[in-house]
Amino acid sequence: MNFPELLSSVHGTIATFLLMGFTGAFAELVEITHAGVKRIQWGVGVMTTAAILLVSSGLWAYIFYRAPIPESPRSILKAGPTPWVHEVLFELKEHIGTYVPAVMLVAFYLVFVHGSELQQNRPLRMLAAGLLLLALVWTFMTFGLGVYVTKQAAL
Ligand code: HEM
Repeated sequence: MNFPELLSSVHGTIATFLLMGFTGAFAELVEITHAGVKRIQWGVGVMTTAAILLVSSGLWAYIFYRAPIPESPRSILKAGPTPWVHEVLFELKEHIGTYVPAVMLVAFYLVFVHGSELQQNRPLRMLAAGLLLLALVWTFMTFGLGVYVTKQAAL
């Protein structure tokens, strides 16, 4: 396994940490228990960290993906019969992917700066839960697009 392959695998694996963080935090936001606030903060902390690492590793992998040589995945896709896999699907993945840390940073701010209000304030919890759901949907879409593009032309 060469370095770009390893980087791409690590990048995909980080996405699963983001999804794991979602489970605990979302359940507590919807139906908070006694230990809830800490669990929400842990879940949102894991999701935010994973989102930042995902985009950082993705941008790093992008250097190899778009290398100006005929063997790079981008060159292979653009020269082949399905250039739209790069022009539409990868471009879409790249952009939706970068929204995820932005959404997570807002959720992070809410649950850490207003953590003491979470227990009593249901609308605040619902707002945070909505942001987590949005991040989840975008992560799933980006995940699927990443796997599809990798299957067409892997790093
Ligand atoms: C929520 C954010 C993201 C998620 C969940 C995600 C997920 C994935 C997954 C699952 C793969 C397939 C890995 C494999 O099978 O080995 C992948 C590949 C890749 N991702 Fe991401 N990604 C995200 C954001 C980004 C961003 C912002 C970029 C920057 C441009 C990026 C660049 C790449 C590249 C270059 C590949 C390799 C494509 C190939 O091998 O042809 N990703 N991504």
